Parts: sequence; C-alpha cells; structure tokens
Amino acid sequence: MLTSAAPKARSYDVAVAGGGVIGLSTAFAALSSGRRVVVIEPDATKSAAWVAAGMLAPASEAHFGEEALTRLLLAGAARWPDFASALEGAAGETFGFRTTPTVAVGVDAADRSEVRRLVDLQQSLGIEVSTLDRASLRAQEPLLAGSLLEAALFRGDHQVDNRALLGALRSAVVSLGGFFIDDVVCSVSASGAIGKIETAQNGSVEAIDVVVALGARTSQLPGITGADLPIVRPVKGHVLRLRGAEPLIDVTVRALVHGRSVYLVPRADGRLVVGATSEERGFDTTVTAGEVHQLLDDARIVLPGLDELELEEAIAGLRPGTTSNAPVIQRIDDGPVIVATGHFRNGILLAPITAEIVMALLSGTSTTALDLLAAAQGS
Ligand code: GLY
Repeated sequence: MLTSAAPKARSYDVAVAGGGVIGLSTAFAALSSGRRVVVIEPDATKSAAWVAAGMLAPASEAHFGEEALTRLLLAGAARWPDFASALEGAAGETFGFRTTPTVAVGVDAADRSEVRRLVDLQQSLGIEVSTLDRASLRAQEPLLAGSLLEAALFRGDHQVDNRALLGALRSAVVSLGGFFIDDVVCSVSASGAIGKIETAQNGSVEAIDVVVALGARTSQLPGITGADLPIVRPVKGHVLRLRGAEPLIDVTVRALVHGRSVYLVPRADGRLVVGATSEERGFDTTVTAGEVHQLLDDARIVLPGLDELELEEAIAGLRPGTTSNAPVIQRIDDGPVIVATGHFRNGILLAPITAEIVMALLSGTSTTALDLLAAAQGS
C-alpha cells in the first residue's frame, strides 16, 4: 500500500478518523471535490472491511422488518459501478469488482422454506429473483452438493475483493494528494467551528470538518460518547479464507444449513472466502476452534470439494451494529464533527452512498440518499 505521511502544521478541510472502507471512501470523495484531506489510521487490518468477504448483496441481505433499509442497500448497490470506475481511474489499479450473481440455497426442508419466504419478501420489494431447479443449479454449479434441490438466483448481488479495495482506496487517496497519519485516534472535539482530533503519538490534528469512521469503536470514543447518537456495538464475525488452484464455484453462495447461515464467496484466483458467524461478544476478536469448525462443517455440506482447499486464514472482526441495523451518518449538534458508522453487515456495499451523504453534510446540500437513510433509521 502507498503511504504519504502528513507534514506537521498543515491545515486540512477534512480530517478522517479511521481508515477502513467508510473512512477511505469518504476521503476519496472529499479529495475528488478538491478538499485537503488527512486520514488517521494505525492499522487498517483491524477494520471490519479487512476481515469481510466483500459481498455487495442488497437482495440477499434483505430481512423481514427492514424494508426501508433494503431500499438504502439497493440505492447503495446502484452507485457501485460508477464508484468502481472512478476509483480504478484514480488508483490506477483494479480491486476485483465482479458482477457475478449470488444464489441462495437451503439444505433441509425448513431451510428451503425459509429461503422461499425471503424470496417472497425480496420480490415484494421489487428485487429481481429467479428460481433454479435442481438440474439448472447442477448445470450452473456442478460442484455444489447434489442434495441441493433448488436455489434462488440474485443477479444484482455482486462482490469485490475487500482487501484489494482497501489498497486501491489508499492508493487513490495518495494519488489525489491526501495524507495519512499512522496513529491511534484518542478523542475528537469541537474547538469553536474547528474540529480537532487528538492522537496517541502525533498530538492534535485540526480541520474544518472531522469525520469519525471508527466502526464499532465509534461509540467508545471520547467526544462521541455523550453525543445524542444511536449506540454502535461490535458484532463479532469469524471469516475463513481458503485457497485452491482454481475456483470451485463461479457464483457467491448463501446457504441455510439446518437454520445456520453460511456464505461462500469465490475469487477469480481460486481463493474462497467463507463466513460468517454473528456473535455478541463485545470487543473480543479471538478466533475460536468451535466457530471455525462450525463454519467449515456447514460450508462443506454445501460444497464438499472444499475439503481439498488450503485453509489460509481464520480471522474474526467486529461489525458496527445499531439497534435498527441502519448506519449513523450525521453531524453532531451542527458542529464540525460528523459521524459515519453503524453499517453492520453492509459497510462495503454502502461505502459509496455513505461518502455521498457525508459530502452532502460537508457542503450543506441535500441528496435523496439522506431521505433513504432517515427512512432506514426509522425502520
Ligand atoms: N455482509 C456479511 C456479513 O456481515 O457477514
């Protein structure tokens, strides 16, 4: 990854606390609009987006009771192609944005009936879903378990290589003249109309606007803790990365296995990302044998050939979740501090639309995305 250290005593338009996908996408958008930007991040491998699988899945992440959130997810997905081409142009590198579809399958009768109920919900929201019978599924994905009887096909649910994406965003920030400070953010505050970030090693950084995009940590940050904002909590997810010589499947597979969810995301180079657990364990990111075992067990029921792959990595990260499952993207008390977090299972999908909303907050303009966000928060 490229880095460009910030000179001392420089003034910024925007200082971004957090170099995960939300912070970097916001920095990219702010730089593209001609603003002077610094990003403060000690280790992007701790971000939720580093651990993630990179699914861009507005349809297969649609859930009962979250219809308004689904509309925000769909609007987020619609922004991805333009975002991807602008980012590729600025970064000069690709990042595995693939428009391959997603299938949803259920292993037993109860799982299949739950998948069908979700398909009904998705169709009622105007999402294009078609059904594959056993023969069509086998023709499309011959290595999936022969016992799978049907699948729902989502043509609009895609994927991106999340780690390559973070690298490309970082390259784009540097190539557009942005700076990085590799440091821990200790607090944020407003000093009159100016925003201030205190760091562990580099003193304070001031900017006209401060954007706090620290994911699950955001609600713990001094300067944010007392604010009138929805609380963001960490939701732990274990993810596995496996590697083979070539892809076993072409499409992303989301499966229900005796009531448990598992997904398998194939990369073009033969890697396979398997995820993810959903655990309420505070800030613990320990990788535990039991969760790894369960994920592997469920994944190999769906894709038996997975047994031959190399297990490259087992990792756990923290999704930033709110009670509504919708993100929090707003100014605090009309001051210089903006918060952008709470994206839960959809941070990568929502990164472009979040950057658009933050840009609207920076410039005091409106965007229909703000209305979609407000509706999602109310749902
Ligand atoms: N978006 C998938 C997950 O959060 O596990």
